[in-house]
Amino acid sequence: MLKDTFNRDHHYLRISLTDKCNLRCSYCNPVDLPKGYFAHSNKMSVDEIDTIAGTFVQLGIKKIRLTGGEPLVRKDAKEIIRRLSKYPVELAITTNGVFVHEFIEVFQQAGLQSVNVSLDSLKKDTNTLITGRDEFDRVIQNIGLLLKNNFRVKINTVVIKGVNEHELPHFVEWTKHEPVHVRFIEFMPFTGNQWSREKVFSHDEMLQLIAKQYAFINLPNKKHDTDKKYAVAGHQGTFAIISTMSRPFCSGCNRLRLTTDGKMKNCLFSKSEVDILSALRSGSDIVPLIKQCVWSKDEMLGGQFSTAYEKLDSSKINNRSMINIGG
Ligand code: 5AD
Ligand code: SF4
Repeated sequence: MLKDTFNRDHHYLRISLTDKCNLRCSYCNPVDLPKGYFAHSNKMSVDEIDTIAGTFVQLGIKKIRLTGGEPLVRKDAKEIIRRLSKYPVELAITTNGVFVHEFIEVFQQAGLQSVNVSLDSLKKDTNTLITGRDEFDRVIQNIGLLLKNNFRVKINTVVIKGVNEHELPHFVEWTKHEPVHVRFIEFMPFTGNQWSREKVFSHDEMLQLIAKQYAFINLPNKKHDTDKKYAVAGHQGTFAIISTMSRPFCSGCNRLRLTTDGKMKNCLFSKSEVDILSALRSGSDIVPLIKQCVWSKDEMLGGQFSTAYEKLDSSKINNRSMINIGG
């Protein structure tokens, strides 16, 4: 059991397979990546991922999500998915959707049931602007392919004021005929992503905007949910809001993270990291390190800020960029 000092049990591990990505979403890629950044390659091998994941499973992990960067750009992604499918865990993935058509069979063979796809706009041009690449048609096609193959599809939409907040009602309209579960995510600060409080469109603002066009009801939440779910009567899909900035959900947090270079983070915003990979390579027992990392978890937001995000000076946050943590 991986319990912290606030009596939270941890059964959910997010493993970043790579910090590379074929897209350049502005909120995720730092603007000033050092030259040669994407060439660095001190990443966990397939065997190392398998061994570390196995150790976490022995310690009580019940769900593993593969993230990145974009997990599917990794050459051996298929092998990793197959290898992890042997564990008695719910296996899930977060992807930008561009390569999903090449992975449908592997997902099915691995028993993956739910796929999270990032999509920040339902307009081709805005999408190209946000992601820096013209892949909108492919992503929409692949969302259709996942639905056709009966995967549960969640859509991650990072909402940035002045960029895409006006599209929220369009996304809700989309859920009328498609069984997609759209999650609107408040814009979070990470190193180099030009966050400012003015760009945050809060949970309350989102609900007010959507309420102008739709009547919706609250859906029940489970203990460890990070999103607050809503549904419009008669719609096949649902929408939800992830309000890390205005209403953090740290008290029910059950997540741990492993970066692609094998560092364990006990929170998305944690300052400190524990070098699991180096310990494994030197033949040490990684179990005490994992336990100690969980034990040192802060109560809220990595101890770096509070709900008063209006006062936050994001330059004081000590963290990695999102692409380098794993979403
Ligand atoms: N703020 C909020 N969400 C973000 N994501 C990436 N960067 C940010 C950010 N700065 C989300 C994307 C992606 C998931 C892994 O994390 O929606 O789908
Ligand atoms: Fe790539 Fe996802 Fe980051 Fe966009 S959010 S740059 S798709 S890793």
